[in-house]
Amino acid sequence: MSRIWDFWAKYYDRLWVQTYSLGPTRKLVIKELEGLLGIHKAPVGRPVRHLDVGCGSGQLIAGLIDAFTPEAIICSGIDASVKMIEQARDKGLTAQFYPGDAHQLPFDDASFDLVTCCHSLPYYHNQPLAVQEFYRVLRPGGLLFLVNASVNSFYDRVMMSLVKATTGPGNYPSKAGMRELAAISGAELITQVRVPVYSLIPSLILTISRKRVPHEGITG
Ligand SMILES: C[S@@+](CC[C@H](N)C(=O)[O-])C[C@H]1O[C@@H](n2cnc3c(N)ncnc32)[C@H](O)[C@@H]1O
Repeated sequence: MSRIWDFWAKYYDRLWVQTYSLGPTRKLVIKELEGLLGIHKAPVGRPVRHLDVGCGSGQLIAGLIDAFTPEAIICSGIDASVKMIEQARDKGLTAQFYPGDAHQLPFDDASFDLVTCCHSLPYYHNQPLAVQEFYRVLRPGGLLFLVNASVNSFYDRVMMSLVKATTGPGNYPSKAGMRELAAISGAELITQVRVPVYSLIPSLILTISRKRVPHEGITG
């Protein structure tokens, strides 16, 4: 599976989807983070510990490092494609990048305040297991951002079957399916937002949830 992404790695930052789908996604994620975490103020009294799962060539992390100070966030990324990780490391960002599988993250429980997973979940063989893993590495009260193409209409279905010609097999959960995944382990759904893109682009949905713990929130 990672072979297809190894193939795309060296072209990835220049693909047309950067303009029409992946770029607008990153913009929305950063905007929502500014609002939700008040990240400039480092609300947990130390930098927010962030993990981007399926980080690809590290572009979201580059965007976060550009948008926020090092006192506000410490980023790390993991991806199953070694070539993607090489591309990410070549950017020389102040971040750690690890090769590895979303279903079995090489991190301790509660290691992160924020986990993001952008346009990667559809390619996992066991999405519920991966989401459970995201919650395992999130601290209580931590936030999960899941964002990807989501099949909600006949048009979405047709478009995403065309996309699969370039990505290999993929399963693009509906909005309701994303909500179900996000609710795994009793997590609290915060919001679902449509990524603003041209009307010909299939629906891209950002789902934000919080690992639930009584008496504690992300600002706790
Ligand atoms: C469409 S790219 C998205 C990359 C990046 N997140 C972005 O938004 O541009 C999908 C990425 O998911 C990674 N991926 C696929 N299956 C994975 C798995 N089981 N564990 C970790 N990463 C995986 C691929 O290697 C690829 O880099």
